[in-house]
Amino acid sequence: MSPWPDTRIIDLLGIELPIIQAPMAGATNSSMVIAASNAGGLGSMPAAMLSIEQLRQELKTIRQHSQRPINVNFFCHQSPTADEQRAQDWKNLLEPYYRELGVDFDAPTPVSNRAPFDLTSCEVIEELRPEVVSFHFGLPEKTLLDRVKATGAKVLSSATTVEEAIWLEQHGCDAIIAMGYEAGGHRGMFLSDDLSSQVGTFALVPQVVDAVKVPVIAAGGIADARGVAAAFMLGASAVQVGTAYLFTPEAKVSASHHKALRTAKDSETAVTNIFTGRPARGILNRVMREIGPMSAKAPAFPLAGGALMPLRAKGEADFSNLWAGQAFTLGVELTTAELTRRLAEEGLAKLLRR
Ligand SMILES: Cc1cc2nc3c(=O)[nH]c(=O)nc-3n(C[C@H](O)[C@H](O)[C@H](O)COP(=O)(O)O)c2cc1C
Repeated sequence: MSPWPDTRIIDLLGIELPIIQAPMAGATNSSMVIAASNAGGLGSMPAAMLSIEQLRQELKTIRQHSQRPINVNFFCHQSPTADEQRAQDWKNLLEPYYRELGVDFDAPTPVSNRAPFDLTSCEVIEELRPEVVSFHFGLPEKTLLDRVKATGAKVLSSATTVEEAIWLEQHGCDAIIAMGYEAGGHRGMFLSDDLSSQVGTFALVPQVVDAVKVPVIAAGGIADARGVAAAFMLGASAVQVGTAYLFTPEAKVSASHHKALRTAKDSETAVTNIFTGRPARGILNRVMREIGPMSAKAPAFPLAGGALMPLRAKGEADFSNLWAGQAFTLGVELTTAELTRRLAEEGLAKLLRR
């Protein structure tokens, strides 16, 4: 019998520990997912920056090395219509950086790569049948969601407000990820784009717990046993932890991201839209300070990233997104398996006051 005081997520997802290694597009690959799932948590494979063939390969690799439940995560934004004028205005804003770094300003702008869930991704889910599928930015259209649910997968999605949590429950989510403002990466917000009314984890989790019947997973700023215990005290049935896993050897982070995570000061994250067009939390760097962190000129998600790509190739630390949550200084150098077990063991001990 599980020692956890609330086993709703453990029972729903068929996992041993209520620790979800967060999907982190660009930073999580199959090795992290395998390690988290084999340690008894839920490993989450992000699909947003992979081609369908890459995703299929990663899922096959995971299945070869783990028999445990896994989560596959997708963005489900609407692809934007091209807006030439906006794209040019944005590139013009960045022109001084092109000149400074000696990058060809007149070369065609690369296309940035965040793919939404679609029919082809749905077919991969039907083929490889992960036990859990999670979404960010709402849910896909009903026909596709019905097909995902018909595979038997449990469906999760992120809510950044109580209103979004209620909407997700009404539209068929089996559990809600309550994503506080502290969290690293893209805000999962989808019913409002008003950042000023985004809610912190401590306020969001209990209000979501009160508002929905399905179990709630707390996310945002949880990096050690204190956060795990607090999340359960607030009524969560599991935690989803992202940034703390960026310190593991399984994380695929660039040299500049690796360094920033270890050297930036605790107050140096901000929510920015300049890297993709959607608000996301990351460690402050030069381009965020100089043209952001929020810019009304940024093209719609995910198009804003294209014009920054050539700059990144020359000045990585200054022009790359260094996604991290507000609790990043709590990160410790552990393997994914060690971190998963430590969060669970020490979190439970705190919760039971052992
Ligand atoms: C580097 C990075 C990439 C992320 N990418 C995704 C993603 O692809 N899909 C998603 O649903 N959430 C993504 N997130 C959000 C996480 O899944 C999770 O909700 C968040 O990291 C929790 O907050 P924490 O970072 O404070 O632990 C990302 C977060 C980070 C730090």
